Amino acid sequence: MAKNSLFRKKSIAQVLSNDATGESHGLAKVLGVRDLTSLGIAAIIGAGIFSTIGRASFDGGPAVSLLFVFTAIACVFTALSYAQFASTVPVSGSAYTYAYVSFGELFAWIIGWALILEYAVSNMVVAISWSEYFTSMLAGFGMHLPEWLTVDPASAKPEVRAAAPVIAGIRIICDLPAGLITALVTALVYVGIRESRNASNLLVALKLAVILLVIGAGVFYVKPENWSPFAPNGVGGVLSGVAAVFFAFIGFDSISTTAEECVNPQRDLPKAMIYCLAICTVLYVAITLVLTGMVHYKELNVDDPLAYVFHKVGFDFVAGVISVSAVIAITSALLVYQLGQPRIWMTMSRDGLLWPKFAKVHPKYHTPSFATIVTGLVVAIPSMFFDMGFFVDLTSVGTFFAFILVCSGVLYLDYKGLTQYSKFRVPYVNGQYIIGLGFLIAFGFALKGGHFILAIEEKPLLFVFWITWAGLSVAAFRLKFSLLPVLGILTNLYLMTELGISNWGAFAAWLVIGLVIYFGYGHKHSRLAKAS
Ligand code: ALA
Repeated sequence: MAKNSLFRKKSIAQVLSNDATGESHGLAKVLGVRDLTSLGIAAIIGAGIFSTIGRASFDGGPAVSLLFVFTAIACVFTALSYAQFASTVPVSGSAYTYAYVSFGELFAWIIGWALILEYAVSNMVVAISWSEYFTSMLAGFGMHLPEWLTVDPASAKPEVRAAAPVIAGIRIICDLPAGLITALVTALVYVGIRESRNASNLLVALKLAVILLVIGAGVFYVKPENWSPFAPNGVGGVLSGVAAVFFAFIGFDSISTTAEECVNPQRDLPKAMIYCLAICTVLYVAITLVLTGMVHYKELNVDDPLAYVFHKVGFDFVAGVISVSAVIAITSALLVYQLGQPRIWMTMSRDGLLWPKFAKVHPKYHTPSFATIVTGLVVAIPSMFFDMGFFVDLTSVGTFFAFILVCSGVLYLDYKGLTQYSKFRVPYVNGQYIIGLGFLIAFGFALKGGHFILAIEEKPLLFVFWITWAGLSVAAFRLKFSLLPVLGILTNLYLMTELGISNWGAFAAWLVIGLVIYFGYGHKHSRLAKAS
């Protein structure tokens, strides 16, 4: 196998000319900047803020609000890089396409494969979380589903197992609401982008109203003494919430998968990404401060922290509203990921890396129909039968990985002088000296008092971080790298090191499976292979 065949690249001109010659003309172009911002908010605000933030606040205390700020900064650097690519190659593949033009086919495949973690696997988590909120909402109205229909088999308690019916020798235990909501949302995504957009806009308006209600009402119950101590478990406690906090931000990038359905993707996608990220960051920081100000952080080890704090202060009406709105909020997050995943598969299929059926566009609904159905099945079935707690971390590793490659891709565009295609560019700040200087200062501090060795012993992955920073310092000095994408790489990588080696191991296993599929199918059927 020729080495070059693994790194064969699509040129930007080629991607743009494929687009112009009508590959994507089956899709309806209906999305404007407001729709995109709304889709972004729909994707971002979901299970993370309604659920996993509770445990992060319990571990880190009020200082988790700062982790939100730090994570947002990593996301902003990344969003700028996404925005540059989205304005350069405005097609549906998102980071997959960006990697194809920057680093070649093998990396593109790896990113496409990692994005399945971000979209499909994270949606399993979101569907399960939806089911939890839905079940407790029904209970609030006095309706109780049998427990064996609301839980995965491994998590079912003995009494639930005993109560479950047996049909044809099989004990029926599954999380039915998780499967049903995924099927419903998939059906909506299948019948049209317009319908999906309208539903998303409506759900987001409701969601924002409720989030503002939480902040507006909660602020009157804040007791500043709850903010002290601000970081009771130190930096370690705060950083243990990285996966949860990052999970809460994941999604702003998913709007780039709708590039072919945008009226003016090159103008609108960059704006929408920054807008939705800015709005969500402000809301997240405010919510965290309100939550940790309303009750002592030690009380926040719950699955429904937003509703819980209002119950706690005796404001049951708002608690009820939040429980219902969580169901709405989480539905809209599900919708966007069910929308994004098939579009990435469609693009990969057009390139020959997946079977041709994945690129099929429905003649009437103008959506990638087959890929949408497969996404529905891929998400619905596991969400009914597995406990997905572990996948929050796995999703985050995969997404960090994709983000780092997108930031690196911008450096590549600069290096190759390909920015003439970019209608939006990451603002250029010369990183020639700053990156190296920053490294020397940070490394000096880390070495002081033996902290470096201690830190590396505790977290061996930090070694990867320091080596990368050192390498980037040298490269930046020689090539005058743009500072912001480098900061994107470093902040994402640093946060990624916090996720622990077992998650990296699981991610590596995931990549191996992906590589088997690539070498079994994509490498031979790639359009670039045929062209050459
Ligand atoms: N950001 C999305 C959520 O929190 C994944 O549900």
